[in-house]
Amino acid sequence: MDGGIDNRPVPAHEAEAPQLPDYLVKTYTWAYLKPASLRLLDNTLVVTAILWGNLNRLIRVNCAELSAGQRVLQAANVYGRYSADLARTLGPEGRLEVIDIAPLQVDHCRRKLRGFPQAKVRLADAAAPGGGVYDTVCCFFLLHEIPDDHKHRVVDALLAAVPPGGKVIFTDYHRAAGWHPLRWPMNLVFRILEPFAFGLIEREIADFASDSAAFVWRKSTYFGGLYQKVVAERPRLVPARAARAAE
Ligand SMILES: C[S@@+](CC[C@H](N)C(=O)[O-])C[C@H]1O[C@@H](n2cnc3c(N)ncnc32)[C@H](O)[C@@H]1O
Repeated sequence: MDGGIDNRPVPAHEAEAPQLPDYLVKTYTWAYLKPASLRLLDNTLVVTAILWGNLNRLIRVNCAELSAGQRVLQAANVYGRYSADLARTLGPEGRLEVIDIAPLQVDHCRRKLRGFPQAKVRLADAAAPGGGVYDTVCCFFLLHEIPDDHKHRVVDALLAAVPPGGKVIFTDYHRAAGWHPLRWPMNLVFRILEPFAFGLIEREIADFASDSAAFVWRKSTYFGGLYQKVVAERPRLVPARAARAAE
């Protein structure tokens, strides 16, 4: 199987497994669907280099949004130490559920998180994550890798997975400032390797939500605007409304 697309039959308990989407197979086989890619790319140093030294900072600002003991959904596997850092932040009383649409990534992430009993990994599409509601959902560098119609579906599904008081954290590329020396080199990288990234950096993430007004949106940018963290928080019900909702 080494060197080919991983298309092993899914285990029986995952018989309802989603199909690998065309965009993933056509655009990202080299990165996510070959065992050799895992060996080469799943390395914190490599991810740090891909993110121009910003991995630690982006993980730190992501983890700062979480609290120990929370139930958190990670919307897709991420190479390097990201999931382990989330699991550590949630602690033994917390719960981390990582989903991914590719069986190879699910198996691999399960192996990586073996030392964290609070973490569970399962096969699912971020557009239909299942699993009920979560205190927080983390979507780390997924949106720039999926076509715009999928961006809509994924954003809506992840927002639907948080109750009042819950939040979704989107960390991803953003359009770098005009003066940024990496603006044009990154545009070239996007053109060659990440064609769906333009659909992300040309719009606000909130624009992909069908009901963005139901959330409070907060955006921070990093490294001259090349990266963004957007937090969508579903407001808590005010007491009168909560009482009506409970009737
Ligand atoms: C999170 S994204 C990019 C992360 C980043 N480039 C890194 O360092 O790993 C990569 C993952 O998203 C997964 N993926 C793509 N589309 C998905 C979807 N609709 N639902 C869940 N996972 C998806 C891929 O299988 C892959 O494992």
